[in-house]
This record gives sequence, C-alpha cells and structure tokens, in this order.
Amino acid sequence: MTRSWYHSSNIYQIYPRSFMDSNGDGIGDLQGVIQKLDYLHDLGFEAIWCSPFFSSPQADFGYDISDYKNIAPEYGTMDDALQLIEEVHKRGMRIVFDMVMNHTSDQNAWFLESRSSRNNPKADWYIWRDKPNNWNSLTGGSGWRYAPERKQYYWSSFLNFQPDLNYRNPQVKQTMLDIVRFWLSKGADGFRLDIFNAIYKDKDFRDNPFTLKLIPAENDPSGFFQEAKYNLNLTESFEFAKELRQTTEEFGEKILLGEVSGSRQLIRRYLGDAVNDGLGLVFDFAMLNFKFNAACFRQLLADMEAAYPDPFMPVYVFSNHDRRRSADKLGGDVRKEKLLALFQLTARGVPCVYSGEEIGMTNLALPFSSALDPLPRKFRFIPRFFFDWLGMTINRDDVRSPMQWDASKNGGFSSAEKTWLPLHPNYAEINVQNELQNEQSLLNAFKALLKFRKANPAITQGSLELIPDLPADVLGYRRVYNGETFSVFLNFSDQPRDVKTEFREIALRLTPHDDGSGSALRLSPFGGIIVSP
Ligand code: GLC
Repeated sequence: MTRSWYHSSNIYQIYPRSFMDSNGDGIGDLQGVIQKLDYLHDLGFEAIWCSPFFSSPQADFGYDISDYKNIAPEYGTMDDALQLIEEVHKRGMRIVFDMVMNHTSDQNAWFLESRSSRNNPKADWYIWRDKPNNWNSLTGGSGWRYAPERKQYYWSSFLNFQPDLNYRNPQVKQTMLDIVRFWLSKGADGFRLDIFNAIYKDKDFRDNPFTLKLIPAENDPSGFFQEAKYNLNLTESFEFAKELRQTTEEFGEKILLGEVSGSRQLIRRYLGDAVNDGLGLVFDFAMLNFKFNAACFRQLLADMEAAYPDPFMPVYVFSNHDRRRSADKLGGDVRKEKLLALFQLTARGVPCVYSGEEIGMTNLALPFSSALDPLPRKFRFIPRFFFDWLGMTINRDDVRSPMQWDASKNGGFSSAEKTWLPLHPNYAEINVQNELQNEQSLLNAFKALLKFRKANPAITQGSLELIPDLPADVLGYRRVYNGETFSVFLNFSDQPRDVKTEFREIALRLTPHDDGSGSALRLSPFGGIIVSP
C-alpha cells in the first residue's frame, strides 16, 4: 500500500500537432516540443503526456496507429523521439506516451492481413463476427462494420476505421505488451491508456440490455438506449490492468493513467480492488460536469475522497483534447479560471493540465461542415446549436487550435502561411508572452501554485479535510502532513466574503485583495487564499 512518485507529480498534456511547429509546415512537431520544454520546466510542470505521434494515416490525428514502433513523418523521426525523451529527463522531468492499445488504424498491416481472409495468420487478431449484435460504439450507433473480403463484420469501439484488437488472442496481448516494453526500454516513464475500458468484450457477445437515457451524463458511455454491460468495463479488463502493471514494473515504477469511462464504482476498479496493484491513476471525467459553485466543488471533493482514499489518488482534470476547454465554460473570466487552478493544484490529487489551459485558451467555434475531426461527420445532420446547448464539444477541432505563444503571426506557433487549424482570434491578447509579463495573469497564478505544491509536501501528500461552518459560497479545506498544515479558502461568489479563521500567515493569495489578519480573512469576488493556521 505504498504511494508512487507520480502520486505527488503533476501532468501537462501536449497535443503535438498544435503545440509548436519547428519546421514551418503548419503542423506542430517533436522538435517544437523540445523547444518549449524550458517553458514547461520554468512553470513547474514535472511530467508531460504527449498525444500520439506514431505512424498513422491521421484519420483521427494519431489515435489510429499503423505502426507503433515508428514516428509519423510530420512529427519527426525516431531520433527526435529519443532526443525528446533525453531532453525531458535532462530537466528532471518525465514523459508519458499515449498508448492506443484498444484499436489500430484500419491501415495497419495487421488489420489489412486480418481482413483479407478468414484463415490468414492474423485472422483472429481483431474481433470478427458473422452477424452484428446490438452493441453501440462509444460514438453512437452500431460499432459493427461489414468487410466483404471475409463476408463478416468487425467491431470498433470508437470510429469504424479504428478496428478493435482481440485481446483474447494471446499473440495480440504479447505483441502489445512487447510494444509497451519497447518504449519503456527507450526511456518512456509511462503511458496514458486510450479508452482502456473497452479493451475486453464479452466472449459470448451477449446483447446489451435496453435502457433509456435522454441525455447521457458526461462519464456515462452507455448511450441513449443501452447499458454498455457487455462491451465496456469487463472483469477481464480490470485483470488486464494488473498484468500491464506487472509488465511495466519490469522497468520500475511507471505511470499508467487510464482513460476510462463508466460509473465511478467501475472505473475505480482499474486501480486494483484492495491494494493499488492495477493502473496507478484513472481519469474520472464526471468532474467535467462541474457547476461553478462551492456546493458542487465541495461535493466533488467529498466524492473523490470517498472513491480514491489514500494511497489511491484522484486525478483532477478539467480540459483535454476531446472536451470543452474549462476557460470556455467559465466564460473567459480570469478570476474564475484562477480559482479553478487554485482548486486543481491544491486538492489531494494529481492535476492534469491541457496545453493552453494555463493561459485560459477558449474554444474555437468552427462549423461541422469543414471539420477535420472525423467525429462531427457522424453528427452532421444534427444542428450544432443542439450540442452547444448541452455544453458538449463534438467538433474537437474547437479545442485543438494551435498554442498561443505570442501576438506575432500565427501566435508564434508556426511560420507557415496556413496552420493545420486556425489560431483562435483572441491570440493577440491571450498568449504566453503577455501573461508572463502580467503579474496578475492566470499563467503566473499557475506558476506560483506549482511552485507552492513543490515546496510543500502537505499539498502533494497530505490528507484532506473539509472545513465546516463557512459562508455557503466559500469552500475551505485543510491539507495536513507530518505536522505541517495549510488551509485553502475559495470564494465562488461574485461578492467579497469574510471568513473567520485563526491563522499565522498568508502563504499564497490569488489577488492582492485576498487579505486578512489575526482571525479574519476577506476574500475578493472569486478570490482565493492559502494560509498556515
Ligand atoms: C480517446 C482519445 C480521442 C480518440 C479516441 C479514439 O477518447 O482521447 O481523442 O479519438 O480515444 O482513440
């Protein structure tokens, strides 16, 4: 029941295509990431997770891999990947690769062979059936697709150019575990595991039970009409998490961060039942449903503490390359963004920050008709405002616009005439350079908070208890470790709020107006403060 190094780390997610373009082709690349490592290191990020940069037809921008041991030319070469690992390590940081184990591209040589006949050596490497059952994919609608070569259907959990591998075939499992070993031997510090909850499917392909949900919840992959009982979160997947853990432990303690969806009770099981012997961390996307008020965040903390008690650790994530950006949800109000950062970086958990989140980048609003992302094509007959009304991002291009480094051409991202996705028009104001210069910026709040975390084990390793009897729109919690204590107070109101509390000194404040003395604190509207009692 011990904790691992990554339980007190933090993670910064890089979407390489949009981070930094070093060669002027309008597409971010690995050398670009290397150029910006000092920026991340200065901010205080300790680990980076890079979305996939392996060989791929890029139909889902790298989440459709055709060769797991090679690099897509637009991102660089194997030497660039090795250099990236080395440069990350030189700075005392870690690098997490994105491992898409569940499916490959339909252009992967394994699949081309598998689909060519019913009796080739890879015939059983994917999931083939004579007839589809009623299962829906994670993107809605049947996940079965007919292949005339075999007169059979293959299964895809996501989009139908991403056929699922068959982990019941021992060769498949060994091949994928060997790919994991391959990258660990090159120095990867772990993996983010793409839709890991879909890895195993029911071996008898039983139909899913009927259910009716008019609006499925954020973390509920069941869809509108069925419960994903037989295609997601199978016991075999929980067991496989342990096997994967054993494999990675051949190389020491490595991050295994599962992208899993389902009820909290289910996804929690990927960590191991009694002890932490499965994946080390899981995303719990239900928190993306947050409402910006104290009650909601109080409940979130209580739920997380109950579901992930020490030595388990929740992951606090509010944005990624698939979901609406948090700053967008907060209406671009920097005070609220800073408050969210204060919460994310001081709650008991591993914070995972998506590039651009640290400067408050917001969504683009691109039409579905011109989307590069394959997902909105599936929904092209449903008007966009319906999803906007639900607060859902279907066109993921909207959250993948290039990183805004400065106010120069293309936001300093690229010297190309045209970048792969347009820059957000707000890049002239919202950019790294501006925010580094502005003491009160969101970026500087991130920097101060990351520094504070690093200096104080109470924040990274301490216990958490909620502070009772506060004004209704103030959230307060105490972090305690080895005799060291900090109290954190967050004001979710647009009015100042007074808090009665004995404290010795103010350790950190979001604005100069978050202040107090002796036994009283005054929090500014959406202000926040950390004090030592
Ligand atoms: C995950 C990724 C997403 C990708 C999908 C299929 O949800 O985050 O970007 O499209 O899996 O691999």
